Amino acid sequence: MDGSQKCEAEENQKDCSRLERDSDCGWLQKSLHAGRLTPDRNNKDKRMNDNLHQLRCFGCGARIAGAEALPDFRCAECGDLFEVEYPGWVQRKGPDRPNPGALKWLWRERRASSEAVDHSGVWRFRELLPILDSFGNAVTLREGNTPLYHLTRSSKALGIDQLFAKHQGMNPTGSFKDTGMTAAMSVARERGFEWVACASTGNTSAAMAAYAARAGLKSLVLIPDGKIAWGKLSQAMDYGAVTCQLKADFDGCLTLLTQIVKEAPIYLLNSVNPYRLEGQKTPAFEIAEAFDWNVPDHLIVPGGNLGNSSALGKGFRELQELGLTARMPRISVIQAEGANPLVRSFEANQGASLEPVEAHTRATAIRIGNPASWRKAARVIQDTGGWCLDVTEAEIALAKAEIGAEGLGCEPASAVTLAGLKKLVKQGAIAPNETVVLVLTGHTLKDADYTIDFHRGTLLTEQEAAGYTKEIEALQRNAVVVDATPAAVLAALKGSLG
Ligand code: F0G
Repeated sequence: MDGSQKCEAEENQKDCSRLERDSDCGWLQKSLHAGRLTPDRNNKDKRMNDNLHQLRCFGCGARIAGAEALPDFRCAECGDLFEVEYPGWVQRKGPDRPNPGALKWLWRERRASSEAVDHSGVWRFRELLPILDSFGNAVTLREGNTPLYHLTRSSKALGIDQLFAKHQGMNPTGSFKDTGMTAAMSVARERGFEWVACASTGNTSAAMAAYAARAGLKSLVLIPDGKIAWGKLSQAMDYGAVTCQLKADFDGCLTLLTQIVKEAPIYLLNSVNPYRLEGQKTPAFEIAEAFDWNVPDHLIVPGGNLGNSSALGKGFRELQELGLTARMPRISVIQAEGANPLVRSFEANQGASLEPVEAHTRATAIRIGNPASWRKAARVIQDTGGWCLDVTEAEIALAKAEIGAEGLGCEPASAVTLAGLKKLVKQGAIAPNETVVLVLTGHTLKDADYTIDFHRGTLLTEQEAAGYTKEIEALQRNAVVVDATPAAVLAALKGSLG
């Protein structure tokens, strides 16, 4: 560190201490020391917290206090979804703006802290999500702080040096849902709920069941019968959720749950809940931090219910608005060909309206035909100049095996990102000197059946695999049964080399 850098670091440190101690330093200070109130939905003093955040309808712009949201999180005026906003941020311009250097310093320092809330990759950025009465109430499993890996093999194959994977599957329950669940579960507990619930293709239910157990709350899971990966179902059971398998798809499960929460005091934890997205925006902060606050050129995200792409777009937008970064990455959303309502919407009318589809894909996590957050995701793609593409079952399977061969692995839904990138490179949409980050959303062990079927050659039909057979065969590593002798094992080894 040279003299001027040292000076700057000392200044940032001083600024941080001031931010944390000085009782007159505005929204940031309030977010650090928000009132500690007992959970009580009727407590008028709770408005102290609502002064830090409010909910704004994405459709008609109506604004309400957080505690006034209806059980289904739909706007009473127009039926659209809400976004969390922080009115203090717009009032604090000019010299009152937070010092970006001080914030960056504070967030980095917290990584070395032993406090659970500082150790969380969500709550260490808590100045940008002041949604709780007290951060001491955060329900955390030390989520976030996930690795950003260089994809060495794929970057060579595609001719893109700077190709990275942000592996959200390395979260405590094995998916990106943990970052959203810590935020929304903490709100549920502060607001005094005993029961929480979600409809899920598997990962949301695993995350919700775990965080509910940590919070001492009871959880209800609605899943499509026979259409979720066993790893995910086993997690919901292990963490103690009441699990109902319904003769319905994900969209049907969510519709039913929406009716249930209107009749019973159960807190809805699907991504229609805007607090989920506040947690899910934080990987954007981690990515920016990893690039020393120079954002990558492209971010590629799988699309299902479209909460995650919306959340990451919000995260990058807020960083830019607060002067922490200079620009946003292009954000592209990739869907499976058989579950592609947003792709169709962009083809038909540039994302102005969406027709639900009946969804079919082996990437069960994204088997969703009527995505709730499509308007928000469409706005993110439009605002950042990203693309919306779909990929076939064979392209997904191949990309998943390629990510496996990098020593990382991921679940099928995550692999749509690499499959989509290959298409974008072929179309000339991404140049070799650009920096690309793929968001891998789930761990490879979530859906071991899919992986085994691929390697045994029983996953895809002949028709699906047509045109890709050579590439698939090159990646297949089926287990072979051999005699328990050195000669037999060495013969098998020779066979695999030959
Ligand atoms: N990847 C994985 C592994 C997922 O589990 C999901 C969604 C997505 C991508 C799509 O994210 O919905 O925000 O666009 N899973 C949900 C669930 C629907 O219930 O676990 P999205």
